[in-house]
Amino acid sequence: GGEGHALRDGGFSFDGPFGAFHQGQLQRGYKVYREVCASCHSMDLMHFRTLAEPGGPFYDSHQASPAENRFVRALSKEFQIPDIDTETGEPIMRDGTPADRFPHPYPNATAAAAANGGAAPPDLSVMAKARHGGANYIYSLLTGYKAPPAGLQMRPGQNYNEYMAGDLSPFWTGDADHVPPGGFIAMPDPLRAGQVTYDDGTVASVDQMAKDVAAYIAWASDPKQVQRKQTGVGVLIFLFLFAGVTYLSYRRIWKGVA
Ligand code: HEM
Repeated sequence: GGEGHALRDGGFSFDGPFGAFHQGQLQRGYKVYREVCASCHSMDLMHFRTLAEPGGPFYDSHQASPAENRFVRALSKEFQIPDIDTETGEPIMRDGTPADRFPHPYPNATAAAAANGGAAPPDLSVMAKARHGGANYIYSLLTGYKAPPAGLQMRPGQNYNEYMAGDLSPFWTGDADHVPPGGFIAMPDPLRAGQVTYDDGTVASVDQMAKDVAAYIAWASDPKQVQRKQTGVGVLIFLFLFAGVTYLSYRRIWKGVA
């Protein structure tokens, strides 16, 4: 199955102990999520204001607070949010605000599954933590759709993907020692070149969009990651200096002592 098939490496800026998210990439990734993935996938843990928190795609130190961030206010307003009219008690739709959660694409899980051949699209809030390989996995999956190898019996509503976990041996009519890597996935290949228009002029190739949306989901899965790494670096600097001071005072105390 999928295991053993090495993931593609997105070369992400946030890899490693000193890595950080690239804000331009997070903005592009949010755009791909909103214009492509959000029609099927929820992100339950995200509020619009989260996008404007420090380290987030639309953080701007010149704006008073995430809830006041002008860009995020404008962006949340593009959504209609179900609510209750406080005066009449009637259900209404109103403009979104930074305090709102990202709305759901489907009214409930049954509708989500029904619209997707029985497999409900999973919530993407913490998808980079939920799957081994994190951003590299998401990047690989989105670029891993291939024509099914000859000898693989496809099932209706399923697509072949080199990186999806699974065991294809029951569907493989070829050489038993060469079962194709990967598995079946109900999600159709979601990305087409030029599908979004990036505001920064970056060319929207499939590879680029896959990387950007993977970076955005990695950030959403752990928005405090960079803050934590920076704290860690501060702690290391402190420990280094403290070790120096300790050593010097040791030398001084024992100076002249045989
Ligand atoms: C599954 C990401 C667009 C429908 C998934 C999974 C990821 C993902 C990471 C989990 C795969 C796994 O189980 O390991 C994305 C991203 C998208 C996107 C980043 C946008 C670029 C879409 C769209 C649809 C869709 C537009 C609907 C037309 C599904 C379904 C599944 C799924 C039905 C469940 C597949 C299964 O379990 O067989 N997606 N997706 N996705 N996605 Fe998407």
